Amino acid sequence: MNNGDILMGVNLSKKYSNLEVVKDVSLNVKEGEFVSLVGKSGCGKTTLLSLLSGLEKPTKGQVTLNSKDITGATEEELALFRREYVGFIFQSFNLIPTLSAWENVALPLFPIKMSNDQRRKRAIELLEQMEMGPRIEHLPAALSGGEKQRVAIARALANHPKIVFADEPTGNLDSATGDAIMAILSELHKKQGMTMLMVTHEPELAKTADRVIRMQDGEVMK
Ligand SMILES: Nc1ncnc2c1ncn2[C@@H]1O[C@H](COP(=O)(O)OP(=O)(O)OP(=O)(O)O)[C@@H](O)[C@H]1O
Ligand SMILES: [Mg+2]
Repeated sequence: MNNGDILMGVNLSKKYSNLEVVKDVSLNVKEGEFVSLVGKSGCGKTTLLSLLSGLEKPTKGQVTLNSKDITGATEEELALFRREYVGFIFQSFNLIPTLSAWENVALPLFPIKMSNDQRRKRAIELLEQMEMGPRIEHLPAALSGGEKQRVAIARALANHPKIVFADEPTGNLDSATGDAIMAILSELHKKQGMTMLMVTHEPELAKTADRVIRMQDGEVMK
């Protein structure tokens, strides 16, 4: 890791057919840093996040995450790598509808060698931290938006990730619920030193972060 950087993207570009939606972007995130990524709808935020988190491959450029150059990794290696080091929080929660709250949280732990009891314990502990203790057996359909997002945050933390990527984590919530979710994320950063890269298009939310990166038309503004 150079200078404490846990994430380094160098000269990243992404083309979909002939449309370049990320253009020569370089950015670094330090271990323990909370960075927000802002910009207008369609400017390439989600795409950039996908490149940096190993969900998608760049057309050009290089990504180093937790000292590993993931640029040349196979899909299988990337999947393993994400499972081990990365947590994801999405705008649409992406919970499995047929699994209870605790089973959703335990899901990332299945490839890890531990007993089912240990998985359940870890899931419940995380849900309790999110004040979701009384709802561990609820299916996602029986949870409010804010509660679903708390389950999703607990799931993102289950594997002790090195970095959490959040894509508009409050985008589907009313402002009061969104504020409560932001408070949880902010506390994770402050109290546990969690490294986070969060996409938002709300300037007020972006301010919660240590540093704000602005994107416009596929490029990062200097
Ligand atoms: N799989 C894809 N195939 C083709 N074009 C794509 C694909 N994914 C994204 N794009 C295009 O790339 C551009 C950037 O999309 P992206 O989702 O990164 O924007 P965004 O900044 O996250 O927007 P929003 O704030 O609305 O979520 C858009 O013009 C979109 O149409
Ligand atoms: Mg987006």
